[in-house]
Amino acid sequence: MVSASTLLAALPLLAAANAADTLNQFKNLGFQGYYFDVASIEDSSSTCCLLSKTPTTFSGSNSPLDEELSVHFRGPLSLSQFAVYYSSDLKNGNWNQASYYNAANGTANNVTFLTTAGANSTCLGKALTYADSDGVSAASLATVLGSKNLIDSNQEYLIFSSQKCPDSGASNSCGVYRSGIPAYHGFPGTTKMFLFEFTMPNATTWVEWNYNMPAIWFLNAKIPRTSQYNPSGNCSCWGSGCGEFDAFEVMNGTQYRNLFSTLHTYQGTGNITYGIPAAGYFDRKLNDTMLGGVIFGTDGTVSVFMPEQMSFSPSLSASTVNSWIPTNAELVETLSSVTILAPTASGQSGSSSTKKSDGLALTASPALAMLTMVMAFFNIL
Ligand SMILES: *[C@@H]1O[C@H](CO)[C@@H](O)[C@H](O)[C@H]1NC(C)=O
Ligand SMILES: *[C@@H]1O[C@H](CO)[C@@H](O)[C@H](O)[C@H]1NC(C)=O
Ligand SMILES: *[C@@H]1O[C@H](CO)[C@@H](O)[C@H](O)[C@H]1NC(C)=O
Ligand SMILES: *[C@@H]1O[C@H](CO)[C@@H](O)[C@H](O)[C@H]1NC(C)=O
Ligand SMILES: *[C@@H]1O[C@H](CO)[C@@H](O)[C@H](O)[C@H]1NC(C)=O
Ligand SMILES: *[C@@H]1O[C@H](CO)[C@@H](O)[C@H](O)[C@H]1NC(C)=O
Ligand SMILES: *[C@@H]1O[C@H](CO)[C@@H](O)[C@H](O)[C@H]1NC(C)=O
Ligand SMILES: *[C@@H]1O[C@H](CO)[C@@H](O)[C@H](O)[C@H]1NC(C)=O
Repeated sequence: MVSASTLLAALPLLAAANAADTLNQFKNLGFQGYYFDVASIEDSSSTCCLLSKTPTTFSGSNSPLDEELSVHFRGPLSLSQFAVYYSSDLKNGNWNQASYYNAANGTANNVTFLTTAGANSTCLGKALTYADSDGVSAASLATVLGSKNLIDSNQEYLIFSSQKCPDSGASNSCGVYRSGIPAYHGFPGTTKMFLFEFTMPNATTWVEWNYNMPAIWFLNAKIPRTSQYNPSGNCSCWGSGCGEFDAFEVMNGTQYRNLFSTLHTYQGTGNITYGIPAAGYFDRKLNDTMLGGVIFGTDGTVSVFMPEQMSFSPSLSASTVNSWIPTNAELVETLSSVTILAPTASGQSGSSSTKKSDGLALTASPALAMLTMVMAFFNIL
């Protein structure tokens, strides 16, 4: 089977003269597969965390990114507006706003700003706390991100919904999570849309890591609730493939004016770290506000676009939304259809047409710890 990444390698990297002409789109997103949840967090021991012995299975359009997602922001970045919408059907239905943030007038409906400004530990890195109005300092209560909210290189915050999680627990709806954190639900569902208005001005203050590499991305919301940057690969479900999607990301200092989109699941690749990059990239405007949208469609099409104009109305018609999406078929990437059967209780793997084996081997070996350590240092996650 030819993997999507192989196909991509054969494509020239298509630069767009205008960000509004670029479309980073994956079709056929979602597959039958599995990952391992964190079963317990043993922060003070050398074990750090135990992964569940029972695989968590998933299937269907956009899976596993149909699960709850958290939304992540790295500087240099300021956020003017953010919204989440749901729709029953991409082609005919309207999109209804479920969450909205507006920096200019302080509106913050159904959003919670968190950041990793809490207790540090060898196993888990820094804990999530509420973010203060600057986005990156700790606050004791949920606080709305302020109107002047430029964060610097390597600074980050996250957005969850304002629906609180029940207690930590494998069979509870947020799974096992780190004790003491403000734990909230992410944004669930096969079909969902995220809209952003933001700036990514050129960096001025030098830092060693992620200098001038702003990004907006999504993680399976379980990942930050256990540990986003952990030296032990067993402290989140990331390594076994519960999912990450990078929408607008500067990858390195050389191409600091290009924003890339990358899928990090095991659909068509065994290398979760590298993932599958989309063919095109967007221009990062250093001096202007940018608009961006990410749609996870009912049919398993994820579209990333940066239109010249966009509306954050409480309700948006499908035709309005569709008019923001360029019809640039050359940039569409169709992911391979993959079935990865979970290992059975007897320990036998029933994999078929899979590259997951690389990932599995890593899950059970120090290689993942090394890999994750490297990722933590370079903040690849
Ligand atoms: C808040 O967000 C969550 C997650 O998207 C959603 O399930 C819920 O319906 C939203 N609440 C309201 C009042 O829209
Ligand atoms: C804030 O601005 C948005 C967008 O213009 C508007 O929909 C909303 O009603 C405003 N909220 C307040 C409290 O002024
Ligand atoms: C967190 O703790 C680890 C281990 O003690 C240490 O290596 C790391 O530098 C600390 N991080 C911060 C941000 O203090
Ligand atoms: C942006 O910042 C980079 C890194 O500091 C610098 O090399 C580059 O010249 C700057 N570009 C502009 C257009 O200011
Ligand atoms: C754009 O921003 C850079 C710094 O990021 C600044 O040096 C330059 O003067 C600005 N250009 C314009 C036209 O405003
Ligand atoms: C992760 O857990 C597996 C068993 O589930 C164990 O073999 C491995 O050593 C653990 N890795 C780390 C880095 O703790
Ligand atoms: C920067 O990132 C892009 C996109 O991943 C890649 O094509 C390019 O080779 C990278 N450049 C360097 C110098 O690492
Ligand atoms: C994953 O891909 C990256 C980038 O190509 C490479 O450096 C790394 O060695 C690969 N990892 C594995 C486990 O193949």
